[in-house]
Amino acid sequence: MCGIVAYIGNKPAQPLLIEGLKRLEYRGYDSAGIAILDETTGSLDVCKSVGRVAALEDKLEEAPLTGSVGMGHTRWATHGSVTDINAHPHTDDTGTICIIHNGIIENYASLRTLLEEKGHTFTSETDTEVLANLIAELHDPDADMDLESAVQAALREVTGAYAIAVMSSHEPGVLVCARKGSPLIVGVGSGEYIVASDGSAIIAHTAQAITLDDYSVIRLTRDGFRTATIDNVALTPKVMQLELDLSQIELGAYEHFMRKEIFEQPKVLRTCMKGRLDRHEGKIVLGGLMSFAKELVKSKRVILGAQGTALHAAMIGEYLLEDLAKIPAECEYASEFRYRNPIIEEGTVFVSVSQSGETIDTLSALHEAKDRGALTLGVVNVVGSTISRETDAGVYLRVGPEIGVASTKAFIGQVCVLTMVSLFMARRRLMSPEASARIIAELETVPDLMEQVLEQDEHIKEVTAKHIDRENWLFLGRGYNYPTALEGALKLKEISYIHAEGMPAAEMKHGPIALIDEGMPVVFIANKGPQYDKVLSNISEVKSRGGHVIAVATEGDTEIRSLADDVLEVPEVSDMLSPMLTVVPLQLMAYHAAVLRGHDVDKPRNLAKSVTVE
Ligand code: G6P
Repeated sequence: MCGIVAYIGNKPAQPLLIEGLKRLEYRGYDSAGIAILDETTGSLDVCKSVGRVAALEDKLEEAPLTGSVGMGHTRWATHGSVTDINAHPHTDDTGTICIIHNGIIENYASLRTLLEEKGHTFTSETDTEVLANLIAELHDPDADMDLESAVQAALREVTGAYAIAVMSSHEPGVLVCARKGSPLIVGVGSGEYIVASDGSAIIAHTAQAITLDDYSVIRLTRDGFRTATIDNVALTPKVMQLELDLSQIELGAYEHFMRKEIFEQPKVLRTCMKGRLDRHEGKIVLGGLMSFAKELVKSKRVILGAQGTALHAAMIGEYLLEDLAKIPAECEYASEFRYRNPIIEEGTVFVSVSQSGETIDTLSALHEAKDRGALTLGVVNVVGSTISRETDAGVYLRVGPEIGVASTKAFIGQVCVLTMVSLFMARRRLMSPEASARIIAELETVPDLMEQVLEQDEHIKEVTAKHIDRENWLFLGRGYNYPTALEGALKLKEISYIHAEGMPAAEMKHGPIALIDEGMPVVFIANKGPQYDKVLSNISEVKSRGGHVIAVATEGDTEIRSLADDVLEVPEVSDMLSPMLTVVPLQLMAYHAAVLRGHDVDKPRNLAKSVTVE
């Protein structure tokens, strides 16, 4: 949700900022802009454009910006419509202070009134322009109020979330950045720094990065840096190595990141499990949980909080924890948990599931659970992300960077990690080594089985093409595959803009059955699980009303072929592991639907990957 990048060093800033923005474009892509401070002339120049980074590049071709201190932003609109004026960077009304911002300044309206009373004028509808003017109001180099102090003072006045980079034409050669609630890291090169929302905009230049905690401010010059809180208490910087390589964030031979990430799933699943499964002992080895193993064994209840695709994975986690570890578990929207005065008794474990580790709803729910005394675990992909740092313990997904806005491989990683966490707890509570070893052995076969599903890509495309003009789809499943049905519907909505609903198959007759008419596509997840017969009855109910049934079924199932119009086969596997296979045809259906309809698969309308606003 908004990507920010800033540079200070000795190279021309423009190409570097544009390259960074392209890497970060998945975070927001309704408009983009850059600003560069030309230290020789003292001029601070801004160029912004509605649309993609490519549109900004076209504009810059006509009038390039020179200098080696600058900043860039790719926007996902919150305050104010998508216009050149509302795009970042923003300057104060004198054009001295320049800022980029990811997050929301919640008290911007009252600050704006105050600043207007002091004579400031505004051109945009954004909260960010308010912050630019507030910093300018406080910034007075002659009165001991340098840029860093002015930023600190301004941030003491704001409520909300921010990751910002600020420069001033009064202090050329200085870049001040800060964060609270929104992600920001600082890449450390030789005589240069690249600040960005995530490592993808940094890794081409350096693998060493400084992470910042909430309420930290960093002042960068070519000679070094200093970190302090917004109250100016000096901080010791935390340096980390970025575990990324360029090939992970480049398309390679693929047309879209989503397709690349779907096809990477068997490989990343193997990486996710590597070194964590001990089939001989029937044990799961999760280093990140070891220091809390005793508490986990004694825990009385698990609550899982997440949003979007991560929520669907967490729902599967709820079933796994109850089935395997016999611990009462419940899963809910983090956004709802946060605001409903939840009761957390002693022995409660709260699990935050998140690809980015930055989703504000998920993070806020984590804070709520922590404040109420829960032991907190993170099931997160991005190493060093806020959720991973703020949880007591956790397990990384290890699926590599996910660039496509529609989450695919992270879902597989989340389900796999939650399976391992459930087994970790189960084995320490009551499960025999033999029973655990059997599940582990089967889990190890899933990547190969997934490869077989991917081989059906052409067939899945043909089936999707048959229904490409239909505007309403249903996705139905039961048990472990009820969350899979939700995920199938979400994928289709997100990237093809087709209206789709997912629900438990049994729920259909309580209302949604009224929607079914001649030829309406209804996707059933109908693998051979304990509720298979019930699913067959639901299929008949749809068929007798003219619906067109697409069944995701177990390989070799002949019975289903006589009922369903189209069958997408997945190899046989136990029901609890089946979502990792049954979701794959649904991901591919959504992908093909979007391509067939001519949509931008990786940057779907109105969406952003890392949602840092509530
Ligand atoms: C957004 C994305 C979804 C994602 C959800 C949760 O809505 O578009 O793809 O599942 O956020 O993100 P997280 O990073 O917390 O998994």
